[in-house]
Formats: sequence, structure tokens, C-alpha cells
Amino acid sequence: MSAKDFLSAFETSLTDNSFVRLSLGNYKGAEPFLKKISARKISVKNAEKISLTCHYKTRDIVKNHDVEKAVAEIQKQLNHGFNTAMLFTTKFDLQLERGKLAKNPPSQTELPPLDHDRKKKRHVETQGKFYLYALNVTDDKGNVLKNAQDKYRQIDKYVEILGSLLEKIPRGTIHNIVDMGAGKGYLTFALHDYLMNTLNLKAKVTGVEMRSDLVRLCNGIARDSNLANLEFVDGTIQNYDAAGANILIALHACDTATDDAILKGISAGASLIVVAPCCHKQIRREMESGKKQNELDPLTRHGIFMERQAEMVTDSLRALILEYFGYSVKVFEFVGGEHTPKNVMIAATKTGKARNPEILKKIHKTKDFFGISSHHLEKLLKI
Ligand SMILES: C[S@@+](CC[C@H](N)C(=O)[O-])C[C@H]1O[C@@H](n2cnc3c(N)ncnc32)[C@H](O)[C@@H]1O
Repeated sequence: MSAKDFLSAFETSLTDNSFVRLSLGNYKGAEPFLKKISARKISVKNAEKISLTCHYKTRDIVKNHDVEKAVAEIQKQLNHGFNTAMLFTTKFDLQLERGKLAKNPPSQTELPPLDHDRKKKRHVETQGKFYLYALNVTDDKGNVLKNAQDKYRQIDKYVEILGSLLEKIPRGTIHNIVDMGAGKGYLTFALHDYLMNTLNLKAKVTGVEMRSDLVRLCNGIARDSNLANLEFVDGTIQNYDAAGANILIALHACDTATDDAILKGISAGASLIVVAPCCHKQIRREMESGKKQNELDPLTRHGIFMERQAEMVTDSLRALILEYFGYSVKVFEFVGGEHTPKNVMIAATKTGKARNPEILKKIHKTKDFFGISSHHLEKLLKI
């Protein structure tokens, strides 16, 4: 009888708009790893739904139901192993335990918001950030412009990734960051902002860029924003003296410019090197001219596959070369920018164990297999 009363109170709270939330616990049923179920009201495309979350030991499964289905589902679960249930309404709290009901004053008298996707955590705040306004990412109130949503997502994801990579580096050692091929500086500004305002670090950030107009623009924005320790330098990656850099970044630097940047990072002994390569022409040319006849040549027979293989081979060799120089390397998917569909990121963290001959052998074997006489980075590092 009590379970029936509990369900009826649940249903009433949904119709008289007093429902706050519900939970089922003390599960003794047959489903492995199920621990509890929670229910809340949400709005999906302007229609009210009840969102049920089944909490398992290592994951959650969420399903949204109409009111009727949600009540039926809670009824089913009460009959199949849940021994306690709590209903929270703005009028009362109702507890069902071992068949007994207990009614208490409400612990919450306000209805919770109906937002569906609880706001995703942002890593780049937009309010009061002049650089985002000056770069046409937000309006003057900090709202992301419609046509800059992708750009903002890319910046935010980048800061999220960099943030987790930086966590592995002792704070006191982060003092000199160089961003090679900084372009319009979106990511350089955002990283500087994150270091200064989230990590409270006064690290020096330098953007290196060969287009003088972009360097002027970025230095102007940095000046107008009163951003200390941020500077854009007019020049090439190849000619930049990166000595002292302990974090080296190069995002979407074209073709072998990525290799030039990696060289600078390795030579400076940077603790972290992060690159998102873009266009892989050098190795593609090598693979095409040195085309090997072997059992796996169908992998490169078609132009599109040749292009994709060349990308993978270029970046696999970069990863191996970084490992050879004592870095632990992760390769993963980044978000594509508007200027490139390429979305691979290589993050290398210095571990110190360098020059393992087994890695050198792998580099040589890979090159030989694909008919490559030399990788640009290999040449730069003279290995
Ligand atoms: C595709 S943009 C990427 C900009 C920025 N890193 C980003 O991801 O938003 C590449 C930039 O690298 C610059 N660049 C390419 N090769 C360079 C080199 N060798 N030295 C300096 N800058 C270079 C280009 O001028 C361009 O602004």
C-alpha cells in the first residue's frame, strides 16, 4: 500500500508542479553494478520530460521519459530491488523505507531550474575579456558571436587540453612559453589568460609569427588589454632563438614549419612540446617518389589513401623522433579549425630517457617501409 501511496504522491507532484527530485536506493536486485536511480524534471525542446539516471558503479545511463512512462518506470524499479525511495517536493519530503512511509517538511521549497544540458564547464571565460572582443569572438558584453561559435569552441578545447597537460608539470617551472606560428593569436591570448587568471602564474608568453600585419594587430590588442608578459615577435620559426623556452607550442604551422618548431623545443630542452600539424607535403612527396612495392602497397595506391597515410606516417615519425629525444608522447584528436580539417595533436612531455637505439631502429624501419629517404625533422636533428 505504501509504495502505491508513494507513487501517487510522485504523480501528483508532477501534475501540481511541486516536484523537486526523486531517488531510489538500497538496491538488492538482479542488475549487476546498479546502485541508485535519480529523477529530475527537465525541458527538452520546450516539452517537459522526466530525466531518469541509473547510476552504476562506473557509469551513468540517462533516459528521458514522458510523465506517464517515468511513473511506470519508478513503479517497476520499486518492485525489482530498490528498498528505499525519497521524493522531494516543494510541499513535503516523503520517504519510503521497508514498506513504511514517512512525511517530513520540505527540505527545498523552490523549484529547481529546468535546464536540460547543465551548462558545460567553460575553460575560457568571455566576460570582460577585451582580447576576445578585439578578435571578433565576442561582442562587447562577452557574448560569443554567432559566427565565432566554432572558433570559441576551438579556443576553449585548446585551453582545456593545455590545462590538463600543464597539470603534469611542476608549477614553479612554467615560466617561458613560446607559441610558434601564432597567426591571429586566438590561442596565444587564451593560453596567456589561462596561465595568468586561472593558474595565477606570471609566465612569459611569446607568439612568433612571420606575418608583420598579424604581429602588429596582436601586440596592439595586448597593449590595449594591459596584458603584461605577452608579446608577439615578427619573424620566422627557423630564425627565432627559443633558448630558455620550457613550453613550446605550434598549432597548424604549415608542413615542415611544425618540424622547425619541434626542433626549437627539443633544442631548448622544453618540458612540454605541443603541436597540431597541418599539411604533410614533405613526406607525401617522399612516399610518392620512393613508392615501395610491397605486400601493403594497396594502402597507398589511391590518392586519397596516399594523402592520409602520408599524414599518419609524418606524424608517427615525429612522435618516434620525440621519443628518441627523451619525450613521452601522446597523439590524440583535437578540434578542427576553420582553416584546416586536420585535427591531430601531438603532446610530448620530457621524461629524460633519451637516445634509445631501439627507437632509432623503428624510425629507420618505418622510413624504409614507406620508401622515405629522410624526414625533415630527422635532418634538422641530424640523426
Ligand atoms: C594556420 S595559421 C595557425 C595560427 C594559430 N597557431 C592557430 O592555430 O590558430 C599558421 C600561421 O603560421 C604562420 N607561419 C607558417 N610558417 C611559419 C614560419 N616558418 N615562421 C613563422 N610563422 C609561420 C603563418 O603565417 C600563419 O599565420
